[in-house]
Amino acid sequence: MDLKNMRSDYQKSKINFDNLDDNPITFFLKWFHEALEISDNEANACVLSTVSSDHKPSSRVVLLKNINDRGFTFFTNFESEKSIDIENNKNVALNFYWPELERQVRISGEADKINHKDSDAYFRSRPRTSQLGTWLSNQSTSISLDHNFTESLTKLEAKFKGKEVIRPSHWGGYCIDVDKIEFWQGRPSRFHDRVLYEFDTDNWSKRRLAP
Ligand SMILES: Cc1cc2nc3c(=O)[nH]c(=O)nc-3n(C[C@H](O)[C@H](O)[C@H](O)COP(=O)(O)O)c2cc1C
Repeated sequence: MDLKNMRSDYQKSKINFDNLDDNPITFFLKWFHEALEISDNEANACVLSTVSSDHKPSSRVVLLKNINDRGFTFFTNFESEKSIDIENNKNVALNFYWPELERQVRISGEADKINHKDSDAYFRSRPRTSQLGTWLSNQSTSISLDHNFTESLTKLEAKFKGKEVIRPSHWGGYCIDVDKIEFWQGRPSRFHDRVLYEFDTDNWSKRRLAP
């Protein structure tokens, strides 16, 4: 293992500072579509960071499921560690890294639960096994080392046999109302391109950052 000598000289693209979008969501959507086209993996996977009530940060991967003018939506268990963090402190960060494009996007904002109707609609679109899974996993709680989900899954399948699996109230979406987005494009010799958008009252401002 030779970590000291592992490095890339990024040169795939650059940010055109003379022609920046005024709205960072428009900018994000362009990069996101390029990532979806080029990536074999989950380009919508991103790292969500939250802060606990005792000020300790933690990060985990979630899947982005919607983007609109209001922000970025992911789905989760409302009783999980991340949700407990969010209920104490709405400030969260998301980080996307698309190595194939040598790009990173850093986002911060406030997370709030989306309305029941929208959580129901997304829940209905999920495969039945995933729907059942949300009833079975008390995400982030301790379970015994030999815990077996098969028995409880069989019982649950019997309960919902021939019926629609309804969304448990402990599962749904959070939307992050974005206040900052930074776009980072790797460039040769570490002279990377960075642009930061910040929301103030009702306008986005933008500025270039040193690499
Ligand atoms: C590729 C990938 C996608 C994931 N997507 C989600 C997701 O959309 N929602 C979710 O709650 N957990 C997702 N997870 C699991 C989380 O990373 C994490 O393990 C789980 O949510 C519990 O986190 P917490 O204990 O901090 O709440 C995903 C993990 C990976 C590796």
